[in-house]
Amino acid sequence: MTPYAGDPYCLTHPSLLAAFGCLYGLSPTPPANCRVLEMGSGDGGNIIPMAYEFPKSEFIGIDLSPVQIGIGQKIVDSLELENILLETRSIMDMGSTDGKFDYIIVHGVYSWVPDMVKEKVLDICRNNLVDQGIAYISYNVLPGWQFNKSMRDMMLYRTRHIKDPKERTDTALDLVTTMLEATADSNRFYDVQLRFFGKTLQSFHDVSSYLLHDYMEADNDPFYFHEFAGALKNHGLQYICDAEQTDFELDSLPADAAAKFEEVSENALDVEQYVDFLKNTRFRHSIVCHEEIDVNQDYSLERIEHLFAATDVVPVLDSPDSPIKEATAFRTSGGRRFSTEHFLAQVTLRKLSEIKPSTIDIPSLIQAVKKEAPSELERDSKKQTEKIGHVVYALFFNGVLELLAAPRRCVLEISDCPTASPIARLLAPSRRVTNLMMEGVRTGRVDLPNHKEGREDKTRELIHNQLESILQHLPRCGVLVA
Ligand SMILES: C[S@@+](CC[C@H](N)C(=O)[O-])C[C@H]1O[C@@H](n2cnc3c(N)ncnc32)[C@H](O)[C@@H]1O
Repeated sequence: MTPYAGDPYCLTHPSLLAAFGCLYGLSPTPPANCRVLEMGSGDGGNIIPMAYEFPKSEFIGIDLSPVQIGIGQKIVDSLELENILLETRSIMDMGSTDGKFDYIIVHGVYSWVPDMVKEKVLDICRNNLVDQGIAYISYNVLPGWQFNKSMRDMMLYRTRHIKDPKERTDTALDLVTTMLEATADSNRFYDVQLRFFGKTLQSFHDVSSYLLHDYMEADNDPFYFHEFAGALKNHGLQYICDAEQTDFELDSLPADAAAKFEEVSENALDVEQYVDFLKNTRFRHSIVCHEEIDVNQDYSLERIEHLFAATDVVPVLDSPDSPIKEATAFRTSGGRRFSTEHFLAQVTLRKLSEIKPSTIDIPSLIQAVKKEAPSELERDSKKQTEKIGHVVYALFFNGVLELLAAPRRCVLEISDCPTASPIARLLAPSRRVTNLMMEGVRTGRVDLPNHKEGREDKTRELIHNQLESILQHLPRCGVLVA
């Protein structure tokens, strides 16, 4: 069997799940002292960095594949982690003796397993999640996956007589490449979608593994969001929100269109379904909890004041000499540019971008923003705090500010003895390392000239120069811990 090359997925992080819980009125267990289960954890690429980050929490990852569990176990052993258990085990074998978990993660699994296993996943979320627990389940969704389903059907058809996994993916990739080349100049809607698909393939460092598991598995049935929400209800669970905040809401539509969709929606879940139709959503990362909890998104300062904020946006300056203080436009790491007229939002984002990728606790952030913008704010300190809190909340739901329930451990200052995290060091020889934000960072090589007798000074100078420039870069990558 070809192992699935596991990646970290920041949207599954207990710090983020807990923050969502707080925002929607739950009282989730702090990630630094919790129990986490990941089902279909593959080689542990996602759960191992979490276990490293929270040594007092307990992590269990289960997967059917002994090969993947073996790869993960080697990493666990190298890092000498004692708070994580990786087991070759089926989801079907989980039960009440496994105890309760504060967080349950099921990423990239639910769409790829038979219905019986889907049912069991939801049973486990119901029976093994503590009362205030939070589950994360991702899945392929219609209508967006319809196009991907055509690609899947084509690949399965082309390889129907081939057994060897490598030959299957090589053959499928060859056909996709031919299609891409043949339609490179076309602007037909279908061909534009094909190009987008080609770009997605390019973003995977192990495209064969991606194709084999995401497109060519025996099971892969996309469904509509409303079907998923119905399945949750049948299992005593409810949908809270999606872990990925986008800038699209019904109210981004023209007012009469938004009103029409509101009118035809029977409830909040219906709104989600119509948004999927409007956006042609392909994938969802649903956050789920027990149905008994009164979930609502009402803003209150208490819901955010124990959280930590960060951002990945950077200010866009009119010219290189413009003071950062005047920046009103920003760019996300994904390249999306936006601007805001709202002064407090500008100050908040500028403050956070200064410490990127570190976090700051909300009370300190509010203090820092207050200092920067005294004339804009009310005299009443409590009202000021409320106003800034509201801005933080709005920026989060606009997808340009992160909220987390625990601070990040990354270090921004370059010390006399700069140290990268053990995980980054362990993975450095591979093409990607996992940083402290649970993202994959591409690695590079340092080229040193051949050492020649009598040229030690020159070699030392070259090493020094290269190290200096790399060191300047490392803190922003989120890999330094000292
Ligand atoms: C597409 S991979 C995703 C792996 C990982 N969660 C990720 O996103 O990188 C799906 C994983 O689910 C595992 N899996 C499938 N059925 C399973 C079952 N019944 N019990 C446990 N693991 C299962 C597979 O072995 C595989 O590692």
